[in-house]
This record gives sequence, C-alpha cells and structure tokens, in this order.
Amino acid sequence: MEYSERLKKLPEQFFASLVNKVSKAVAEGRNVINLGQGNPDQPTPKHIVKALQESAEDPGTHRYSPFRGIDELKEAAATFYKNQYNVDIDPKTEVAIMFGAKSGLVQLPLCLLNEGDLMLLPDPGYPDYMSGVVLANVDYKTFPLKAENNFLPDFAAIPAEQKEAAKLMYLNYPNNPTGATADRSFFEETVAFAKEHNITIMHDFAYGAIGFDGKRPVSFLEVEGAKDIGVEMYTLSKTYNMAGWRVGFAVGNPAIIEAINLIQDHLHCSLFPAVQKAAAAALTDDQKCVDELVARYEQRRNTLIEACRNIGWDVQAPTGSFFAWLPVPKGFTSESFADFLLEKADVAVAAGKGFGEFGEGYVRVGLLVDDDVLIEAVNRIDKLNLFKTSSIEV
Ligand SMILES: Cc1ncc(COP(=O)(O)O)c(C=O)c1O
Repeated sequence: MEYSERLKKLPEQFFASLVNKVSKAVAEGRNVINLGQGNPDQPTPKHIVKALQESAEDPGTHRYSPFRGIDELKEAAATFYKNQYNVDIDPKTEVAIMFGAKSGLVQLPLCLLNEGDLMLLPDPGYPDYMSGVVLANVDYKTFPLKAENNFLPDFAAIPAEQKEAAKLMYLNYPNNPTGATADRSFFEETVAFAKEHNITIMHDFAYGAIGFDGKRPVSFLEVEGAKDIGVEMYTLSKTYNMAGWRVGFAVGNPAIIEAINLIQDHLHCSLFPAVQKAAAAALTDDQKCVDELVARYEQRRNTLIEACRNIGWDVQAPTGSFFAWLPVPKGFTSESFADFLLEKADVAVAAGKGFGEFGEGYVRVGLLVDDDVLIEAVNRIDKLNLFKTSSIEV
C-alpha cells in the first residue's frame, strides 16, 4: 500500500523510542522508574466520574451530539473562564469543543493557513505542534526559549522577514517542557507584537491550572486585545486528570472559533454527550479537587528539587506545569544522559532534544509519581556519582 506524501512526511514520534526502550527494560524484569512521560497519574475526581455514570444512563446521551457540541458544555466553559480569569466569553460564538487540546492544535494550521504559509513555533516545544505543520503542508520557523530569558521568547530577536511573513504563532505557558510560566506583562507584549505584525496567536493553556508558590497562571485572554488576535486552548486532561476522556475547548476570537467549528463539522460529530455533560460538571462544580492536585504537584516538585540539590545537581525549580527541566551534566548530550540513566539507574527521563534543538542540554522529568518514588529515583542517580566533584554545565 502506497501512503500519501502527506502521511510519509509526518514526523517520527521521538518519544516512541523512549517508550520502546522503557518497555524493553521492563520486559527484562528491571524495576524502571519512568519519569519520562506526561500522563497524569491520579484518577479523575469521583464526582466527575459519577456525573459521567449518571449521564451515560440517560438514553438521551446515546444519540449523535450536535455537531458543535452541547450548549451545556459551552456555557460551562464560559462560566469557568469568568470564575477563574474574569474573562467574558460568549458561549455561542467564542467556544469550540474539541477532542482535547491536541486536536485543536493540529487542526488550526489547516483552518487558517494556505500551503507554504509560515507559522512560528517555540523551541523547545510540544512535539505535536509539528503534526499540524505537516498535515497542512505549511512552512515553519522556530524561536528559541532560553534559560536567560526565563524560557520566554525574545520577540525582538525574531528575524524581520519572519515577523512579516508569519501568519500564526504558538505559545504555551505554563510551559511543556521547561516548566516556565508567563506573567501578564508578557502577554501584553505578545498582543502588541501580534497586532504590529498581523500574526494570529494560539496560546496553549494545557497546564493553565498548575502554577506553584501561590501564583495562579495567567490566561492570555485576561489581557486587553487578546481576543482580537487569538485563541486560547484549554483541556480537562491535566486540570481534572481526564487525559483519557479527550475533552478540550478553544476560547477567544469568534472568527477563529468559527473556523475550528467548521473544520470539525467535516471531521467529527463531537464527543459522546455524556462525556460532555460530565466535563461541564467538572468545570462548574467545586474546584477543591484542582487545588488539591496542584498542592500535590507542588509537594512533589519541592521533594524532587531538594533531593537533586542534595546530591549536588544544580537545578532550577519549575514555576508551573508538572515537569522539571533539569540540566545535563558535563560530558553528556541529553540523549546520552537519558540513555545512561535508563541503563545504569533504571530511571527513565525524556531527552530535551526531543523537544527541539534548544532542548539540548536538558532532560524533562515528570512529577507524576509519588514523593518516595522521586526520592528513590534521585538516590539511584546519586549512586552514579555524577555530581559530587564535577560542576554542572548546561
Ligand atoms: C503543551 C501541551 N499541549 C497540549 C497537550 C494535549 O492535551 P490534550 O490531552 O488536551 O490533547 C499536551 C499534552 O500533553 C501538552 O503537553
């Protein structure tokens, strides 16, 4: 069977090789601590599961959903944005229900760009952004996220010809993989930049709920003018441990929302209505479960960072997301270090290179296991004597 050129061009899943290596080690009977993945480890809160059970009992949910999702969920998304961010969203025109943020991220270039048009992506960045680039056959350039700039883009450093040509830019804070967060002034700068250069912004707010040290992540839409030039994508995957449920939504500029709805009219028939009803309950019920989850991740972050520093590993604490972005010791690349840890310590981490060229020099560690497991992982790494005498270079 001959596949289309489009499919042939799809990027290789960098992390497929990590999954294979971990599976092989586990099959050999090794007790691997897997810190390489981004899959929430906690269950969906009980009240949300119960809402699904009750909705699934109702035959009314067994029929096709309206193409663009049920009103109840769109209204819940608008209520959530009002409650959390004091942002006014019109549920009729400013919300698009999606199969997780991923489907929106991949669809957006198909909606807004013609073949060969330019989009700008962060490096390091979430690898699935590339899927949309390839499926829509558009051009892309990356902008670096550097430690000295708190992993925020330096808009002034983007080459003039790229600023003029680009039609779409992706941003993501709290950030995967760096764990960095953005403040309101950054988004104000973003809106000004986007307006000056006529670039549409997609802010990926997948980790929107997860900010540490009492600082709640800022929504891009909180900034005046954001809705004129962009959308934000939200997902229930992380906030409510609902990664398997596949519920997300885009909010913001009505023309972009209409474009997403339009393409989805032709691709899907929205989500199982009972899932949508349960998602609406998640967004509008008491948010105590979210506070507890964030406290859990913060505790794990503190445990990991303290343990790393105790063994002489000079690491920075993430301010959001559920990832830590740790510098690789001298003499290793991100890949050779990840391989070394798996081989010698039975600890799996994600090599920074998998997120882009500027991910080199780092590994990503997920805060998705309990504290004692994080400590055990660091103890195993300690036994390799990597940090005692050498100074760490990034
Ligand atoms: C930065 C980022 N954006 C989007 C997603 C996709 O989330 P969803 O489960 O809603 O498709 C992820 C998932 O890991 C992510 O890390």
